[in-house]
Amino acid sequence: MASDYYATPESLSWKLISASVQSRPRVVADFSAGEGHLLAVAEKKWGTRIKLIANDIDYGFATKLRRRKPHWIVSSTDFLAVHKGVCARNLREYQGLVDIVILNPPFTYQGKHCCTTDLCGVEVTCSPAMAFVANSIRYLRPKGEILVVLPSGALNSSRDQACLNEIKRDFHVRVLAKNARNSFPNCFPSTALVKIVRKPKQGRKPVHASTKSASLRVGPNVFIRRGSIQMHNVPDDTAANCVPLVHSTELQDGDVRLDARMVRSNRSLISGPAVIIPRVGRPSRQKICIMSTKQRVALSDCVIALKFQNIRQAKDAKSLLLDRWRKFSECYTGTGAPYITVDRLSEFVFSAKE
Ligand SMILES: C[S@@+](CC[C@H](N)C(=O)[O-])C[C@H]1O[C@@H](n2cnc3c(N)ncnc32)[C@H](O)[C@@H]1O
Repeated sequence: MASDYYATPESLSWKLISASVQSRPRVVADFSAGEGHLLAVAEKKWGTRIKLIANDIDYGFATKLRRRKPHWIVSSTDFLAVHKGVCARNLREYQGLVDIVILNPPFTYQGKHCCTTDLCGVEVTCSPAMAFVANSIRYLRPKGEILVVLPSGALNSSRDQACLNEIKRDFHVRVLAKNARNSFPNCFPSTALVKIVRKPKQGRKPVHASTKSASLRVGPNVFIRRGSIQMHNVPDDTAANCVPLVHSTELQDGDVRLDARMVRSNRSLISGPAVIIPRVGRPSRQKICIMSTKQRVALSDCVIALKFQNIRQAKDAKSLLLDRWRKFSECYTGTGAPYITVDRLSEFVFSAKE
């Protein structure tokens, strides 16, 4: 049995699951399911007609669950590595399709206290428990919910702040209750029940001059992120902790120049593989650029990135934009300089794939 296995007591499981507002979810998942206590309560609440997805790194748990719950979809994947594409096929298939993620993630991971993951195209370093939350987001449907038992430290430690802030850009994070220290038998962690739901989309008003960055998952493998760094107050910086700045001038002949300007920024960061396009201006084929490097870059508010899991997907997306150039260029509208929004781009990507 894994050393970080702590069964979720039934009363706590009910309390967590009762926080869902969904009366008829279709898919409920627990990515660190252990012996499946949380999912068993979900099954009692919503019945056996829902799809229950159970994953645990421990092969022994997965084997037991397959035997005991043959109607569940069970996998044994290291959930902290899913952002690298290391994932069982029957789990990967559910990216973007889960209505409710329920989690009581491991608080430490083989003694590891920090891990790095990818949240909507942004590289973040955080605790293993928070990385479980970050990685769960790629599995959620747009109106999905994450219900999670989190160590209190994840909510207020400096280690998790950057990741939590990044999550809060697009999601509401609500603490439902603080648990008593004796909520789990044989260990006394300070934990809380937390609910995470996506913020409703802003109205369809143009966001041309806004400084707010926006990001959107538009499918299992693609995030769209709009940059937010305003060029008029970018100092040219060369300090060690700077990253390359990508503005529309860095988009040249289908490639992204990374040697022009450096900037110190903790926002609008993205790493490849990605396709980066200008957000404003008359669309030009030469400015549809692939960024293959996994090096982090900061995006100016004049560009938008489509972030993919691998370079093949990025190349396919670039071909799609170029093949449907007329339709794509029509997404740039406006009374002054034409511009494209994250919404219009995501609609284009969706409809082009159909
Ligand atoms: C606190 S227990 C979860 C209990 C379970 N959800 C329940 O309802 O009883 C944490 C589980 O996370 C699993 N785990 C640890 N690291 C993992 C990883 N990287 N990927 C997937 N599961 C992991 C452990 O094997 C353990 O079963």
